[in-house]
Amino acid sequence: MIENPFRPSAGATPPEIIGRSGLLDEFKYGLRLGSGAPGLLTIFTGARGIGKTVMLGEVHDAARQEGWAVIAETATEGFMGRVGEEMLSLTQELGSGPQNRRITAIGAAGFSITTQLAPERQVAWRKLGEELLHILDNKHTGLIITVDEIHAADRNELAQLAASVQHFIQDRMPIGLVFAGLPAAVSDLLNEGVATFLRRADKIDLHAAGIRDVERSFASIFATAGFRVPPHLVQKAAESTGGYPFLIQLVGYFLWREAENNNGTLTDAEADRAVQAAHRRNARTVIEAALSTVSAKDLQFLRAMAQDDGPSIAGDLGERLKAKTNLVANYRSRLLAAGLVEPAGHGKIDFAIPGLRQYLRNLNTD
Ligand SMILES: Nc1ncnc2c1ncn2[C@@H]1O[C@H](COP(=O)(O)OP(=O)(O)O)[C@@H](O)[C@H]1O
Ligand SMILES: [Mg+2]
Repeated sequence: MIENPFRPSAGATPPEIIGRSGLLDEFKYGLRLGSGAPGLLTIFTGARGIGKTVMLGEVHDAARQEGWAVIAETATEGFMGRVGEEMLSLTQELGSGPQNRRITAIGAAGFSITTQLAPERQVAWRKLGEELLHILDNKHTGLIITVDEIHAADRNELAQLAASVQHFIQDRMPIGLVFAGLPAAVSDLLNEGVATFLRRADKIDLHAAGIRDVERSFASIFATAGFRVPPHLVQKAAESTGGYPFLIQLVGYFLWREAENNNGTLTDAEADRAVQAAHRRNARTVIEAALSTVSAKDLQFLRAMAQDDGPSIAGDLGERLKAKTNLVANYRSRLLAAGLVEPAGHGKIDFAIPGLRQYLRNLNTD
């Protein structure tokens, strides 16, 4: 029997990566060209659960396939130091002879510190990077550093990383840097001039997958397992995901469980149960996690938005909340940065997370 292949869990590789074909072409081309190729500087942005971490996983696979070394980090405090530690162990692994002893001397004091590197550690970090890139260059490969969740990064650390990578690129070293983060926070980071050179990066904004693609994927995955799911139910289930990757996995997962418990056959009742379970789980994980950081005022603003059936007009929100234009603008930019809302055309905003509107409406009637 085939086990449930769906993976409704952050960063987990799904049975099929839907709607992302061609997105890594530029990056893969960059791996062939080496130092200075534009594709080697890429930033993935998109809402929570849209599939950023999964794309970083694809980046790692593509790089390793070409023989490149990979350092994968998340932008929690001290990531520069952790990248340094990993450069050190890679260098020790790959290098040989007297060079190795010198490296060990550079790294001896360690990079494990709590936040940005002190100046002398920065110098050591760069030296180490140069050594490693030199070794990799001789092997005709290079190094890819990925940093996930850069919206949470300490600005100084990010600036240090960017400056060093820029320096390596200027020295024609084979290095690539790939980031992922929430859209508004990432554009703030770039606009604040923290790392001006990152503005040159290839920005790839991830969106929901096409419903038809989800439908086709569900149908083929269930067929492979020998499950009998009527086409209208596959279609309904696919539509309920809105093409949103996390929901695709949740809906697929619960459909699979229902089918397993029913000898491989799904009827309307089971399919409905699965879809409801999926949406409840989505609310509990993504939505409640996203809302846990907003203030009471922000929540009020979001509830005012939930009164609309589609995108909200800033002016309407101002009236509902009896708030002035500039106050509405403040809410808007805070919630954009938190990844809860997104721009929806001139003067309008919409929810960035599927199911959020319904969730807030349920609060409104409580
Ligand atoms: N292209 C895709 N097609 C189908 N499922 C996907 C896709 N990308 C991501 N997923 C699934 O969506 C969920 C969220 O992915 P993740 O990469 O953690 O999102 P993010 O990092 O943007 O929050 C995971 O369960 C993952 O398996
Ligand atoms: Mg992620």
